Amino acid sequence: MYKITLIPGDGIGPEICKAMVKVVESTGVNIEWEEVIAGKNAIEKYNTPIPKHVIDTVKKNKVAIKGPITTPIGKGFRSVNVTLRQELDLYANLRPIKTFKGIKSRYEDVDLVIVRENTEDLYTGIEHKLGEYGAESIKIITKEASKRIIQFACDYVNDNNRNKLTCVHKANIMKLTDGLFLNIFRGICEKHDFEYNDLIVDAAAMNLVLNPEKYDVMVMPNLYGDILSDLCAGLVGGLGIIPGANIGKDYAVFEAVHGSAPDIANQNKANPTAIIQSAVMMLKYLGEQDKAIKIENALKHVFMEGKVMTSDLGGSATTQEFVEEICKHIK
Ligand code: NAI
Repeated sequence: MYKITLIPGDGIGPEICKAMVKVVESTGVNIEWEEVIAGKNAIEKYNTPIPKHVIDTVKKNKVAIKGPITTPIGKGFRSVNVTLRQELDLYANLRPIKTFKGIKSRYEDVDLVIVRENTEDLYTGIEHKLGEYGAESIKIITKEASKRIIQFACDYVNDNNRNKLTCVHKANIMKLTDGLFLNIFRGICEKHDFEYNDLIVDAAAMNLVLNPEKYDVMVMPNLYGDILSDLCAGLVGGLGIIPGANIGKDYAVFEAVHGSAPDIANQNKANPTAIIQSAVMMLKYLGEQDKAIKIENALKHVFMEGKVMTSDLGGSATTQEFVEEICKHIK
């Protein structure tokens, strides 16, 4: 029996997490979910968006899965996601982007993985006003954090039979910060046998749209990873299907790439595939390969048939109808 921390989040979070739990449980895996709240719901109850017991339960259970959490724009509390990643030192954000046959998109064979550094860059939240004149945000890139994320990406290439690693950066302009990241990348990669190259982030954005099938595993600092993940989601059918994992030395938190989608919350129309695929990553992390593959096969089957699709993928199925169809195929 596994004990897993479940953070449903807000917006579409609770409905997609409920769907995910149903799908995971239909495989027969024995999980006890320890549910806790974070974000604006937690402020109402505990006066903080991320109560200490939330961090403590992840530390105790070692593994968590979470729905998206709304972050106020330009004011209000600091992102719960960023806080969790930093507090638990979840330094690697892994986002596999893969075409599903049956989902309409402009490309047929995308199969790439974004490895995003998760703890520093412009996300350290060090900002201050420059009097009336403006404001300043500090970008931090350290040797240690760069080394461990690049090493993580190299290990991922080797362990998963991938062929090539691409570093995305802007070292032509940010010569010290991104220059450091790039130099460490080159130093580590020259000790490996696989092919490697690097690309400036603006060129990477264009090339990913023109020829996404040319890319395999890509490693990059935090901000570029955030932006390019959404771009890559668009290559294979949208944010509704792309999963993610935040992995550290001691803990792992699984979550979809998308946000809380307030525009479609509580309408029973959100696509739960992204969080279900995040649960597939979680089951593999736990060593439950068979159960993970059962879910993957059910998703492939349902998309290939194309009869029960949510509205973001051009269908008319509700979240609940889609989940029932997936569970039917698992059983
Ligand atoms: P978003 O990802 O929530 O939504 C962007 C667009 O994609 C919307 O039109 C939405 O309806 C659609 N979409 C997203 N997920 C979908 C799904 N599962 N099924 C169908 N359609 C889906 O991005 P947005 O609107 O920029 O952010 C909303 C809030 O979410 C913000 O407060 C943001 O800070 C937060 N956020 C939280 C994340 C997390 O908790 N990990 C990640 C990204 C954003």
